[in-house]
Amino acid sequence: MATNIQQPSHVFASAAFFQNPYPLYEQLRAESPIYKGSAFKYPGWYVTGYDEAVAIFKNKAVFQNRMPLPETTKRYERLRKLQQEMMLFKNAYDHKRLRGLVGKAFHAQMIEEYRPYIEETVHELLDEISRKKQMDVVMDFAFPLASLVIAKILGVPRKDQERFRAWAMCFIQTIDLTRSREDMMQGNKQAALLGHYFQSLIAEKRQTPQDDLISRLIDEEEISDEELLATCVLLVIAGHETTVNLISNAVLSLLQHESQLLLLKKDPTFIRGAIEETLRFESPTQMVARVAVSDIEVNGNHIKEGAQLYVLLGAVNRDPAKFSEPHQFDIARTSNHHLAFGYGSHFCIGAALARVEAEVAVQVLLEKADQLELATAEPRWRRLIGFRALESCPLYFEHTITK
Ligand code: HEM
Repeated sequence: MATNIQQPSHVFASAAFFQNPYPLYEQLRAESPIYKGSAFKYPGWYVTGYDEAVAIFKNKAVFQNRMPLPETTKRYERLRKLQQEMMLFKNAYDHKRLRGLVGKAFHAQMIEEYRPYIEETVHELLDEISRKKQMDVVMDFAFPLASLVIAKILGVPRKDQERFRAWAMCFIQTIDLTRSREDMMQGNKQAALLGHYFQSLIAEKRQTPQDDLISRLIDEEEISDEELLATCVLLVIAGHETTVNLISNAVLSLLQHESQLLLLKKDPTFIRGAIEETLRFESPTQMVARVAVSDIEVNGNHIKEGAQLYVLLGAVNRDPAKFSEPHQFDIARTSNHHLAFGYGSHFCIGAALARVEAEVAVQVLLEKADQLELATAEPRWRRLIGFRALESCPLYFEHTITK
């Protein structure tokens, strides 16, 4: 295939890409919505077209989920053992079975029961922060909120939130295409610690069950010990990483688009639209991977058995063939069918939870703030390809404490 794009692997690795990946996505899509190329050392098909992404997600018989590590790896064995038991990397019957067990706890109706707890937590955090007059949205607000909520649902001790954050960041690094050998070695080491941590927590809960998700899963006969452990790890990581990014990205996007902020302040019913638009505009998960298990043609491209596909959700969600004015942040956008939570059989289990957390967090923040201003001209993004995650987002923030 002819290409105008110079060394895409290097472009992916540039500082400019991490700050703003969208120009590269445009270039790739202009070349082909399914572009054959390479990011870092990972050759494959890079998907930037919306219709192409949906076609791939729909065909789960051919495009399957695989853990990023080779099944035979000895070097990172602890990490491999953990990854291979996660529903995210399973297919067909095993995937359906695990998802069925865990999914019940995350249905929208179940999640609504946590709304009062989420509201109370947001008020408490903001009252605490207001004493400082300045905050980092990521570490002072979004992270403690997401951490406390997932801890409550799963039944993990609140006091361990710093450890979870470190584990989540480390694990995310092992599945991102930017991963280095050191990241993998570190991830393998941390996988052992995570394993021990959850083994003893599960043993405690077997002895003294509580009203939480881990205790309920222990009672299920259809889940093996290894799967239970991996499920705990997956949920803790998912609960700590992506929701933090959704909340932070929403606050940043609103502060960078004054007309949209004013609109939301004037009419708070736009909150749902604001969160959906953030999911589309700064998708917290930017990439998901699939492997073709047989030869297949998509949009005139011959994809061979064993080929890797990388669906760039951040690009798909700005495909002009699907979204009008895709680079505009528009909280009043109608028919916003973004793919930020994926699509089809692996659609995010935590979508309802993430939505409620983000809606409450942003709404209460805006209601309470007397002053809310970015304290930096250009916040820095983490060096990740698969996730849109702010390193930090400092704000001037003040409000009158009411309680
Ligand atoms: C804004 C927040 C979130 C985003 C953007 C997000 C995004 C995604 C995406 C794109 C997938 C699909 C992966 C694929 O197709 O390969 C996924 C799957 C998943 N997510 Fe989320 N997620 C978020 C929050 C959460 C939360 C809070 C939880 C749970 C605590 C969670 C748990 C999961 C699980 C367990 C899966 C695997 C589902 C399966 O394989 O069937 N996510 N997520």
